[in-house]
Amino acid sequence: MADGSSFSITTPIFYVNDVPHIGHAYTEVAADVLARWHRQRGDDTWLLTGTDEHGQKILRTASANDVTPKEWADRLVTDAWKPLLDTVDVANDDFIRTTDERHERGVTAFLQKLYDDGYIYAGEFEGFYCVGCEEYKQPSDLVPGTGPYEGQQVCAIHSIPVEVLAERNYFFRMSDFEQRLLDLYESNPQFIQPESVRNEIVSFVKQGLRDLSISRSSFDWGIQIPWDSDHVLYVWFDALLNYITALGYGTEDDEAFQRLWPSVHIVGKDIARFHAVIWPAMLMAAGLPVPERVFGHGWLLVGGEKMSKSKLTGIAPSEITDTFGSDAFRYYFLRAITFGQDGNFSWEDISARYQAELANGFGNLASRIVAMLNRYFDGAVPERGELTESDAAVDALAQAVTERADASIAAFAPHDAISTVWELVDALNGYITEQEPWALAKDVAQRERLATVLVTALRGLGTVAVLVSPVMPKATEKLWASIGAGGTIAEQRIDRAWEWQGSETVTPLAAGLFPRIEQPEQGAA
Ligand code: ME8
Ligand code: MG
Repeated sequence: MADGSSFSITTPIFYVNDVPHIGHAYTEVAADVLARWHRQRGDDTWLLTGTDEHGQKILRTASANDVTPKEWADRLVTDAWKPLLDTVDVANDDFIRTTDERHERGVTAFLQKLYDDGYIYAGEFEGFYCVGCEEYKQPSDLVPGTGPYEGQQVCAIHSIPVEVLAERNYFFRMSDFEQRLLDLYESNPQFIQPESVRNEIVSFVKQGLRDLSISRSSFDWGIQIPWDSDHVLYVWFDALLNYITALGYGTEDDEAFQRLWPSVHIVGKDIARFHAVIWPAMLMAAGLPVPERVFGHGWLLVGGEKMSKSKLTGIAPSEITDTFGSDAFRYYFLRAITFGQDGNFSWEDISARYQAELANGFGNLASRIVAMLNRYFDGAVPERGELTESDAAVDALAQAVTERADASIAAFAPHDAISTVWELVDALNGYITEQEPWALAKDVAQRERLATVLVTALRGLGTVAVLVSPVMPKATEKLWASIGAGGTIAEQRIDRAWEWQGSETVTPLAAGLFPRIEQPEQGAA
């Protein structure tokens, strides 16, 4: 049983109209690294991901491909979205689909409660809708079209004409929650992060909230409104509820919901508003706790533009992992991009970091230490002698780095956590260069000093391995086996990574942790 607190974290559930690109993989990896870290602190951790399968966007894609929407969704989930999790090595605890029966049951219960409590009413809707965004639009959200759409008003995000709707719909009384939302943002400044996203949302809500149209009657690919079978639920109202239906909300078995809700939501900043405005208002209406936090990360840019399939800048995650492996993918995106800011992807950058930081930095450190212990001590790890100031400084740094990296993760700054660990990688490489164990090895009188240096380095290496294991589970597991540490690395307490004392034996690393890459494939960038 875990001895920490509970840490429940989610990714968005992704639309199955298309296959994943590295933007989706980035969100998955970020959430997975945070989840793995918390698991290794002993927290009762739960990572939820899944797919968003209803609505017009999916319906139209399926029709264009001559299959039913459910067939289309099944195909994309099986062939693309679940395989993504293997491609980038995500250890999710659950995968929810909005076509799951458990989801539909929970959504139905939730809707009926809001209806019974007077938060939903029938009304007339007239306005605009963007199917690309699956969002109702105000005139101020539109821009003049260009090219084929010259003379029309188009969605500022998708650059395609919006649709004009005039329908009888059910509305959610979102305007009732304006003040309560503003109070929430003020009393809990951490609720929305980063600051830039928080500011945008606060000023959006301050402009006033309208009631939200939550049903559609012109198509039927969605969850039926329980009291009116002519209507299906608006796809965002449906999708947001996945976070609680996955935990059993609205069913007899809601033990997981009681234990794990509220969760932390990791989303892209494009959809932070749905998560930080509509979603908490829905929960307030139902008398349920609001999310723990909504973190809106930045966009991956390719050639300076937001990567997207519709703009043909999408890069498949496997294009990168086939060359560099999943560990390097995970490391690169979490290290190179400040979590919360936009970041540009380039093949040159990932190649350069792979070579400098992984192959030469961490990989070389591991090979050198393991090789010298084998060469000079036949792989039997000796006792340390008296410590010099330099040795003690390495020990102290390992402790400080552990504590600072752990604090960075608590602050949702994985980029800081990783660069902090690299202070230890660099310090260990510097320590070995300075201490020159190969020179000590030439002098029998220095045998104890040699032992002290190599074991000090080995202990630091073990600390590094544990601290980067959430980021690079595969390479660190290999290293863990080689340095003869017991159990799996995933079982090691990360907040005590610095305490690791070294093992009794080390065995040679069969190949380097990060093999030389001959010719990185040049993809879209
Ligand atoms: O919005 N950079 O799904 P979606 C970084 N189904 N992240 C990116 C990205 C980029 N260029 N492009 C996409 C939906 N993403 C809804 C969500 S949740 C209840 C419903 C990631 O398939 C990022 O996480 O359009 C973004 O928020 C998400 O994919 C949008 O995925
Ligand atoms: Mg989208």
